Amino acid sequence: MRVSIPREFLPGERRVAATPESVKKLISMGFEVCVERSAGDGASLPDRLYEEVGATLVADPWSGADVVLKVRPPSELPDGRHEADLVPEGATLIAFLWPARNTELVERLRARNVTALAMDQIPRISRAQKMDALSSMANIAGYRSIIEAAHHFGSFFCGQMTAAGKVAPARVLVIGAGVAGLSALGTAKGLGAVVRAFDTRSAVRDQVKSMGAEFIEVEIKEEGEAAGGYAREMSPAFIEAEMALFRKQAREVDIVVTTALIPGKPAPKLWLRDMVESMRPGSVVVDLAAESGGNCEVTVPDQVIVHHGVTVLGRTDLTSRLATTASQLYANNLVHLITDMGGGKLAVNLDDEVVRGAIVTHKGAVLWPPPKVAKPAEAPKPAEKPAEKPVEAAPRAKHGAHGAAPAGGDSVSTVTWVAIAVLAAAWGVMRFGTGALGLEADPSVRMFAERLTVFVLSCFVGWQVVWSVTPALHTPLMSVTNAISGIILLGGMLHLHGATMGLAGWLGVVAVLFATINIAGGFLVTRRMLAMFRK
Ligand code: NAI
Repeated sequence: MRVSIPREFLPGERRVAATPESVKKLISMGFEVCVERSAGDGASLPDRLYEEVGATLVADPWSGADVVLKVRPPSELPDGRHEADLVPEGATLIAFLWPARNTELVERLRARNVTALAMDQIPRISRAQKMDALSSMANIAGYRSIIEAAHHFGSFFCGQMTAAGKVAPARVLVIGAGVAGLSALGTAKGLGAVVRAFDTRSAVRDQVKSMGAEFIEVEIKEEGEAAGGYAREMSPAFIEAEMALFRKQAREVDIVVTTALIPGKPAPKLWLRDMVESMRPGSVVVDLAAESGGNCEVTVPDQVIVHHGVTVLGRTDLTSRLATTASQLYANNLVHLITDMGGGKLAVNLDDEVVRGAIVTHKGAVLWPPPKVAKPAEAPKPAEKPAEKPVEAAPRAKHGAHGAAPAGGDSVSTVTWVAIAVLAAAWGVMRFGTGALGLEADPSVRMFAERLTVFVLSCFVGWQVVWSVTPALHTPLMSVTNAISGIILLGGMLHLHGATMGLAGWLGVVAVLFATINIAGGFLVTRRMLAMFRK
């Protein structure tokens, strides 16, 4: 089977659908790989690198191809031919296709009996993450948006105290904390800016905070997450509150990166003309949603304009501005999809959720959009108590946001009540119980009750501390629990010293055992994590 990689010819497109590394993998799967001459030039991947790994360089990548891998949707070549007409009949084409807005292209591919798979339609499910080209590209676009903003901004991102005077750090606002937004936020933070972010999905609050940014909120409580974790359109009242928040922010921030997107809808207009006009001259707005209409009212797609002294960037080629890495990640996404489809024995399995989601045309039929998958009925949620202020969610909700709630929502109160009951019983035994039970002569009962009190209190405090910490901070927390385990180990050893093996002695053995496991395990995990950062 022959896989062909045509050169992307559209102006400004520097990515390529295969790198020498991905070509090597395709060849090892049993494919013959043909690359159009100078296809990788824009991504700093010269022809000789492809030749070295066994690809054949060709002038015409189309004829004889069984599988064509591309970045952009097929379009008209400068010589008037259309790429869709060059894909051999019955061959497979994998590329970004955007079928909703390219209906004419879809029809051309169907007419040629092409099996077309759209990388932009890969479902965003866990299993398909390695093929999720939209996320790969959004991550790059987010990073690059800050680099572009820094290029147009007339000051440092980090604050500086110099002999000549003080420079305040740049204040960055990120609207939409999806893949691109989080990447922009991390990059701005890395450059030393003061970063705040806004999103309609409360689930991203912890992610924003764990990256050291501030999550700003509106007073209205309304969840922006629809089925499958995607965003949904918000009510007019929410948008109004959001606009009021942004108007205030506009007077404070230096750089705004907008990434808000609702699947299948034009980008919502969130940064309005008056907000741009109230920003300080020299400020920068980067509108990542420029291609789908823009989040900023004054954005001109593909152009950099200056409005009232504010630079507004409507770049739609941010991924191409990092062409080498973008090509590498995209090519990897393609290799993963091909591997899942059987590698060298490439086959279309319509029962595969990923293939079914991405397939657009097959055997002369249009198969897009895919049928909606019926979801298992969800258990009815208990009615929520109306909250007066939407400020901070309770610690349990934070865990829920990560999908890893370790216990039910009322576990804390259960533990609290158990702790209170045990403490009351222990206090009762110490205060009255020894007499009432006729155990005055046995001081060990009193001692046991005292130690039980300390034990229960430690469990209670430990539980509250650990489950109130955001999951992103569990790793640093581990070093603290190691220190606590050290104390437990000492306590256990003290109990064992010269003990006749009563209940206290055996509890000492258990304490020593568990504390040792915790300390040794903690060091092992830390070692593994450090190894991940070593090159
Ligand atoms: P995503 O779907 O992961 O993130 C979008 C975020 O916007 C979601 O978190 C959503 O909750 C949020 N959002 C929706 N409505 C909102 C509102 N009213 N207020 C605040 N937040 C709201 O999307 P992803 O993958 O991060 O992409 C973001 C944008 O970047 C898209 O428009 C995409 O087309 C664009 N992009 C641009 C590139 C370029 O070169 N300019 C390259 C790659 C992506």
